[in-house]
Amino acid sequence: MSTPTTQPRDPRGTAPATHWDGVYAERGPRDVSWYEENPEVSTRLVLRDGVPASVIDVGAGASTLPDSLLDAGVGHVTILDLSLRALSLTAARLDERSTALTTIAADVLTYGFEDVYDVWHDRAVFHFLTSAEQQGAYVAAAAGAVRSGGTLVLGAFAPDGPESCSGLPVVRWSAEGLAEAFGSDFTLEHTERAEHHTPWDAVQPFTWVVLRRR
Ligand SMILES: C[S@@+](CC[C@H](N)C(=O)[O-])C[C@H]1O[C@@H](n2cnc3c(N)ncnc32)[C@H](O)[C@@H]1O
Repeated sequence: MSTPTTQPRDPRGTAPATHWDGVYAERGPRDVSWYEENPEVSTRLVLRDGVPASVIDVGAGASTLPDSLLDAGVGHVTILDLSLRALSLTAARLDERSTALTTIAADVLTYGFEDVYDVWHDRAVFHFLTSAEQQGAYVAAAAGAVRSGGTLVLGAFAPDGPESCSGLPVVRWSAEGLAEAFGSDFTLEHTERAEHHTPWDAVQPFTWVVLRRR
């Protein structure tokens, strides 16, 4: 019998927090490929049903989506990310509105969600989950944390999008594929394609879906 030389990883785990902290430390929040000055698609889709009381942005990074949502009148925004460094940037930016913001440094796949939210938002996180086990754990977490009748707004690289991001492989998704992946608990309500332009003007096609929690 051979002896493992490295600690086995939690099979549901993705890249560790140190990877993502390192990316934000090395490049800064505005020089990462996913940076957008105005999170227009995300904001519009989160507000599609009106102004929700509570939103969770999963894998929020240092995105300005919480700023946009609070500006629009959303009551409370929770941001969850593996990277404490990214969360700290947003917490500092929104210091004056800290009572309306909760930060959670955790892995979405293993965090024990206790609250339920009106809207769950994910831009460019689900596509890092490359195994059925990881994807199933994510769907179960979302199903438990979105209230019945609430929505899940998700953007992932489209079938003609990049094959990797930040040095990690991704799964590229069609709207039909996402509807099927979440079909045990959510119904597809809306889909659209959007092209993200990186800070160096590379084009990244995204598939966006709005799914309703049954
Ligand atoms: C490509 S970035 C997108 C950030 C943000 N959603 C945006 O659009 O600007 C992916 C983010 O997801 C986070 N992340 C990756 N895997 C995660 C996981 N399993 N749990 C929580 N956060 C995760 C990373 O730390 C990173 O901030």
